[in-house]
Parts: sequence; C-alpha cells; structure tokens
Amino acid sequence: MEKKPFYITTPIYYPSDNLHIGHCYCTVATDTMARFKRLKGYDVMFLTGTDEHGQKIEDKAKEAGVTPKEFVDKIVSGVKDLWKLMNISNDRFIRTTDPYHEEAVQKIFERLKNQGDIYKSVYKGKYCKPCESFWTETQLVDGKCPDCGREVVDAEEEAYFFRLSKYQDRIIKLYEEHPDWLEPSSRAHEMLNNFIKPGLADTCVSRTSFNWGVPVLSDPKHVVYVWIDALTNYITALGYENEQYNDFEKFWPADVHFIGKEIVRFHSILWPAILMALDLPLPKKIYGHGWLLLDGGKMSKSKGNVVDPVFLCERYGVDTLRYFLMREFPFGSDGAFSNEALINRINSDLANDLGNLVSRTVSMVEKYFDGTLPAEQTADALDDELVSMASALRDKYDDIMESYAFQDGLIEIFKVVSRANKYIDETAPWVLAKDESNKPRLARVMYNLLETIRICGILLTPYMPDSAEKIREQIGADTDVYNWETAGVYGSLPQTVTVHKGAALFPRIDMNKELAFLEDRMAKQKKAAEKAAKKAEKAAKKDEKKLEGVMIGIDDFAKVELKTAKILSCEPVKKSDKLLCLQVELGEEKRQIVSGIAEYYKPEDMVGKTVIVVSNLKPAKLRGVESQGMILAADTPDGVQVVFADGIPSGCKIR
Ligand code: ME8
Ligand code: MG
Repeated sequence: MEKKPFYITTPIYYPSDNLHIGHCYCTVATDTMARFKRLKGYDVMFLTGTDEHGQKIEDKAKEAGVTPKEFVDKIVSGVKDLWKLMNISNDRFIRTTDPYHEEAVQKIFERLKNQGDIYKSVYKGKYCKPCESFWTETQLVDGKCPDCGREVVDAEEEAYFFRLSKYQDRIIKLYEEHPDWLEPSSRAHEMLNNFIKPGLADTCVSRTSFNWGVPVLSDPKHVVYVWIDALTNYITALGYENEQYNDFEKFWPADVHFIGKEIVRFHSILWPAILMALDLPLPKKIYGHGWLLLDGGKMSKSKGNVVDPVFLCERYGVDTLRYFLMREFPFGSDGAFSNEALINRINSDLANDLGNLVSRTVSMVEKYFDGTLPAEQTADALDDELVSMASALRDKYDDIMESYAFQDGLIEIFKVVSRANKYIDETAPWVLAKDESNKPRLARVMYNLLETIRICGILLTPYMPDSAEKIREQIGADTDVYNWETAGVYGSLPQTVTVHKGAALFPRIDMNKELAFLEDRMAKQKKAAEKAAKKAEKAAKKDEKKLEGVMIGIDDFAKVELKTAKILSCEPVKKSDKLLCLQVELGEEKRQIVSGIAEYYKPEDMVGKTVIVVSNLKPAKLRGVESQGMILAADTPDGVQVVFADGIPSGCKIR
C-alpha cells in the first residue's frame, strides 16, 4: 500500500550563533511529531531552515567585515550542527539564500504584481529594526515596538504593497468555517477579533533602504521584504516555481506549520492571503506554541539568561533535554525553564521511574533466569490491570499525539511505567524467587514487565529515539516487535526472550551539588553579559564625548585645519532622510561634503552660503557617498544650526 504523505515544518530561523533552548523547543516538537508519523507509517517530509535576508544581517556582516553571504554561511553551518546534535531528523533544510528559492521568490513576486495583488506606493510608518517590522502609530505600545518593546524609528520610502485588504472577507470565512485551522483556539480568537475583523491593511512587501534581499525582478532597487521571502519557503522547498525539487504535488498543502506565538499573525493572516492570491490550497493547520521563559521573561543574549542547548546536551544527554522540553509544559502554553525543574525531571521521571523499571526488570531476568525466560509461564489476576493498561496505551497515545498534546503523550506513557513499578512491589519477585515451584509464575511476572517496557519504549521513540533504542536492546526485543503495529498488540514479544543488561539509562543527579554548580555557572554568564553591556555603553559614550571638556595644547588644535567654504550646489543623499550632499569651493579647490543636516535645512537654502569646514579630515563614505571634510554646526536645543560665515571669502584659514 502506498504510504500517506505528511508534511510538517518549523519556522525558518534567523541565523544566530546563539540559538538557545527556546529555539530548540519548536524544532524538538516538530521532530517528535515527524518521528511519530514515520512510526505510524507515513511518508514524512519534515522541513526546517534559515531565514537569512534583511537589514540586521547586512549590518552585522558589515560590523564583522565580511559579506552578508560569508556571514550567514558560517552561522548556518553552526545551526545545522546543533540540529544534528539534538538528533533532529529533518528531511530537508532550506536557506532563503539558496538560488532556487531566490528565483522562485522573484517569480512569485512578479506574478502577484502582474495580477494586481502587489502595487507600488509610499510607505510611511514606524519601523522596528530588530523585528524588521513596520507599525502604525496606533499599534505602538508606549511609543515602542509592540513585539519587542524596543525603540522604533520614522520611516518613509517608496515600497510595494500586498493587497491584504482584498482578502479580509475570505479570511474571516476561513476562521469561521474552520475553527480548528489555527490552534490553540485562544490564538484563533485573538487573530479574528483583534486583527482581522477590525480591518486588514495592505502590507509592505519591499524595501529600498538596504540591499541584502531578493531583488524585485522588474524593479531591482527594491528587495523583497521579509515575509514574502520567508513564508514562501514552505512551498519553494517542495519545488514550487523551481526545478530543484519535485514534490510539491505530493506534499502540498502542508499538514501543519509549527510556529511560535509571536509569528502567528504572519502565518495565520498574511500567509493564507498570499496562497489565496496564488490560487493554492491552504495548509491544513497552523499550531502556535508558547514560549519557554527564564526568570519570567524571554531569553535574550543581552540579558545573559540564554540557556545553552549544547551545554545541556553534553552534560545531561540529548534525550533528557528533549524529554524535559516536551514534558514540562503544554505545547500551546508558555513554560518556565529552571535548573531545578530540569534536574527534578531527570531524577524523578527518568532515573527513578523509567530507568529503574528497565534496570530492575532486566537485572531480575538475568538473576533468576540467566537472562532467558522459560516458555512455561503462569498468569494471575494480579496481572490484569497492568496488562490492560499496557494493551490500551497505544491507541490512547495515538489520539493524544494526533491532537499535538506532546505533554499528555508522555504523561500517559509514564502512568503505565508507574503502574509497572507498583506491579513489581505487588508481585514481590524476590519472594517468588525463593521457591523453585514459583518459577512459572515468576517468569510471567518478568514477561509482563518486559512487555510493558517494550510498548512504552516504542511509544517513547518519537521523543527519545536513542534511549528507546537502548531500551529495545536491553529487553532483547527484535526490531520486528518494536514498531507501531506491535505496540498495539500485547504479547508480541516472544515468551522465551533473552535480555541484555546495559548501562544505566539515566543516572541520578545529586540535586544540591548540581544546582550549586549551575547557579554558579549562570551567575558568571550573567556577569559577563552585564560587563559586556556596560563596556559597550561606555565605549559608545566615550565616542560621543571623547573630547568634551578635555584640555588640549595649542599643538593639538593646530592639527585641525579649518577653512571657509562656499556652497555651490546641494542635494539630498538617496535613501537617507538625514544626509545632504554639498559641492563646495575652498578658494581654487572644489570638494564634495556629506553632512547630516537634512532634517534642518532644505538643499536650496544652502546654496550660495559660506560655511566653515574641517578641511584636513580623512575622506569617509556615508551611505556610499564620499565626503571630503565636515561642516561645523552647533547642537542647539532646537536642533542643529550650521555656523555660517557669510561675507568671508572662501578658502580662508580659520585660526
Ligand atoms: O521568527 N521559546 O525566526 P526566529 C519558544 N525567521 N520558542 C522560541 C523561543 C522561546 N524562548 N525563542 C524563539 C523568526 N522561539 C522568522 C520566522 S517563518 C516563515 C520565519 C521560536 O529565529 C520563535 O517563536 O526569531 C519562532 O517560532 C522560532 O523560534 C524562530 O524564531
Ligand atoms: Mg523572532
């Protein structure tokens, strides 16, 4: 029989060499779902990737003195390493800088433009650089970015717009006819009532103020602005509008997009509208998960409260971390990370309950039966509850997992694990072992334990693939009885199974010692972050105030050459609201000077005036335009005022 396709995605991540466990959260959840579906026999396409364009990357690359592509290449290889470390089983990895994606984005943009869904206009608004988001005045919270709380700046430029307003009615209908399309339902209510019904404004989809992006084919001074580039990754990665891949027909529409709650708006309003405009089917579901918080807030490098997944994996094991992320809080809600919570989970759930069950069972089979159970086994009514719980587990788990309740899936498995531990106490194998005539009964007790462990182990596979495999080896189950089919059939394990004792799956941790170690480590990290922040602040202040109030000798002053200059012509610098470019004459000599006075002077008002310039300043480029000197101006309470020297001939030295 042909396998059913299942297509699942993570967001594409901004390249960062500081991915924290918050970022791993979505990837681990997606991986768990992908593995669950593979276990059930689906033909899974699991896509993840990186979102590599934008002003922020352009700025950071400049700071690092490399090209944007060099900058992202290095970081993306680190991102891939992290996913490898975390045992992420993605089938495909898309980079928005992959040429096939860029070309497809260009085609998509042109098509939308040609059919009138994208049009040219002027963007005026508030812009949050870190979020790469435009906001209207009314959307701001206390004058700051409503997403991240940082400063926004005024921005105005020619831009292309996507006609989102046109799709408002169809999107309202989508929400009303498919109340489960966006989950959790609280997020669907929020979108519908707070964003969609109040009215959808057309949205800006191109920029001219930076270059690091996909150029608009028919108007290349524009680059495609973040969301059309980013969202379409979900279809270009399957081969939409490109030759790189060929499984768009097979996998689209996606079964589910997993995303964090702060990008729900783009995925649940803009994305369906883009797909409607392209006349494509919509993803079957969007799931907006919560955030993993630390000290009640979002993790951030500058706060020094990022939790490093590489460190945690190395110290506690990959599966342990995966378990913690999926077990600690419900998928749709926010949850708190703490060292104590992590160690508690390791000690109580993993070491005590699961690890102990496996190691006690396998040890007893070795001790009482030399590792191999006899065929002669005697059942007892005492077995019934455990057997019925283990028998029912797979189908219960199936329903839970199909509703993306990762936490509940683990809770159900661990109910059975606990029941099995209780069963050991109830049957007291060590008492049975004292009397040879009890051997068949003892053998059945051992079999029930192994069989329960087998079923739990199979169902743990999506969450903890390595540990599940180790469990399989220890209980001596062949792979043909360690799969979805047999997880639903109690008694699949051969009665005369042979076990193989292995190392403890999850060693216990000394809570107090470990906490002290971790708190110390975190404190150091915080201190280092604070120090770095202070240093950066100081350096910035120093740059500003370097010379203010500092006494210098006449020799130092003599190094500065000041001359009068007459302004011959003046025009604004392209793509800048701050800069004017002036052509000046210093006696015989002609020069070009760029000055940050555009907010205070109109170009035509400057022409013919005489000003004072620093004439021996090293030439510098501002916004790509060379400046050979600097105009003197005063910082006044009302802004900048140029120091005019009208009446003095040009080219005179000022002493
Ligand atoms: O938003 N807890 O990328 P991104 C849980 N490039 N999830 C977290 C988290 C935390 N503490 N911190 C981050 C972008 N995330 C865009 C997406 S998709 C077409 C473009 C999650 O790197 C966050 O919620 O900022 C988001 O889903 C994902 O990490 C990527 O975030
Ligand atoms: Mg983000």
